[in-house]
Amino acid sequence: MNAIVEIENLTKDYDVGFWRKRKVRALDGLSLRVHKGEIFGFLGANGAGKTTTLKLLMRLIFPTSGTARILDCDIADVSMHARIGYLPENPYFYDYLTALEFLNFCGDICGIPKAERVRRARQLLTRVGLNETRWNTQLRKFSKGMLQRVGLAQALINDPEIVFLDEPMSGLDPIGRREVRDLIAALRQEGKTVFMCSHILSDIEVLCDRVAILKNGRLAQVGALAELRQQSQGQNLIEVVVSATDAAGLQRHLLEPDKFTLNSTPAGLRIEVAEEKDVDIVIAALRKTGGKLVSVQPVRQSLEELFLEVEPANEGKRSGDLT
Ligand SMILES: Nc1ncnc2c1ncn2[C@@H]1O[C@H](COP(=O)(O)OP(=O)(O)OP(=O)(O)O)[C@@H](O)[C@H]1O
Ligand SMILES: [Mg+2]
Repeated sequence: MNAIVEIENLTKDYDVGFWRKRKVRALDGLSLRVHKGEIFGFLGANGAGKTTTLKLLMRLIFPTSGTARILDCDIADVSMHARIGYLPENPYFYDYLTALEFLNFCGDICGIPKAERVRRARQLLTRVGLNETRWNTQLRKFSKGMLQRVGLAQALINDPEIVFLDEPMSGLDPIGRREVRDLIAALRQEGKTVFMCSHILSDIEVLCDRVAILKNGRLAQVGALAELRQQSQGQNLIEVVVSATDAAGLQRHLLEPDKFTLNSTPAGLRIEVAEEKDVDIVIAALRKTGGKLVSVQPVRQSLEELFLEVEPANEGKRSGDLT
């Protein structure tokens, strides 16, 4: 498959402390491939190194070691930036410009002819859901969510082949989140590649083809969500929900009752079992109590559980303070 982003052993140490003599390793030997046309989710807890990775790829900071290529160009080759888009984590724009003026300015530095950039600016502001009554308002009067929408529009003004989004849902209300989610899905339909960091796991779950999870600057997991779920433990659990019976009544009829944990939920009594034959035991007991079967379904591990479970690939050496 075509790799559109190739990261090889990328490491970043920040100089910290009053004399800048101490080093903190924010990213530790990251190697990663992102393929053409996929939506790639880049996850990790606060401080895991996601923004550092994006800043390195955007050449806003320089790596301590390692290399990376985007669209077959070394990241040092900034001419490639004409073909990519970037939404920073905390976009800071020249805030005396209006939304339209700002997009026009961004289009201008990308070398887009005037008529075309005006057309694109209007089209993108509509697409990111910024109300037309605000298009001629100065950015300093914008709310966080409105600025985020303008930030997304500027990331797309040059019709990029790949777009890097650092927390694209940040500051958005539920409607805005939905709009941006649809926008990102539409980008894939257009054949674009999206590399996005997000903490909103439900969005990642519905959008991303593959995800990588960073932990303490190291790559802990990478792959399609279904694959990662399969590799992780607990994927064979089955959930049985029953109603019209109480826990004590059911437990009396269960063979090996200690094997089962029963929890009351609004939908009924919930029993998690490890094997299919245990489902039969629950159903047999249920018949004896006269209860009703509500549902039997495999427990799908959520991304959140996977996220909490990940450990660094090499626990031996952790990134962090180097001195
Ligand atoms: N300019 C800097 N100087 C010193 N340390 C930094 C600097 N920027 C980031 N760090 C450190 O590098 C580590 C990674 O930070 P980074 O911003 O990349 O994390 P992140 O995964 O984007 O987190 P978040 O989810 O909170 O945005 C953190 O320990 C952070 O304190
Ligand atoms: Mg960040």
